[in-house]
Amino acid sequence: MSGLSSIVLSQPTEDEARRAFEDLGCIVCHRSGGIAKDWSDIVKEFKEVYAGKYASLDELVAKEIGPEVKERGFGDPKTWDELFTLMSTLSGKPGDPRVNIVKSYLASLLGFEKTPTPTPTPTPTAEARGIPFSLAAIIAAIIVALVVVLAYLLTRRR
Ligand code: HEC
Repeated sequence: MSGLSSIVLSQPTEDEARRAFEDLGCIVCHRSGGIAKDWSDIVKEFKEVYAGKYASLDELVAKEIGPEVKERGFGDPKTWDELFTLMSTLSGKPGDPRVNIVKSYLASLLGFEKTPTPTPTPTPTAEARGIPFSLAAIIAAIIVALVVVLAYLLTRRR
């Protein structure tokens, strides 16, 4: 499952998240007058109630969302990943990667990035690790010259 979250590379916009929410069929339950909060109420709750309240997304699910889902008899998600796996299954789209758009967007509302962009670590080249070839060549040339001069001086002494 964690492999799928890497499909979403950049932070989705609210429009993209809402469209994914509709396309996945989440609105069967999540609509006004439905059995669960509609999209705008979810977004509002994330921005106004949940933001800054918990140290992690898993804690939010464990303390607040999980018990709410359980109370309605729809399962017992304990972590952020479990919540979205459950919700995808409830909407008949288990494993659909589009749920990651909703997931990333909602996480971003709380200041959590579920899909951090990996910072590329530059691999040092052979030259960067040791002395450059040109410098090595100069040093070698100096050593050869010194040996030649020394040999010349030694032969002159006799
Ligand atoms: C079978 C009904 C059902 C379906 C389908 C469903 N959900 Fe839910 N969902 C619930 C219930 C019930 C709750 C808990 C009560 C509430 O938040 O209104 C909930 C809660 C949530 C919450 C927490 C909301 C909050 O503000 O606390 C999120 C986020 C969520 N669902 C996302 C989704 C997504 C994404 C989909 C589609 C992939 C989806 N749900 C499909 C029933 C459903």
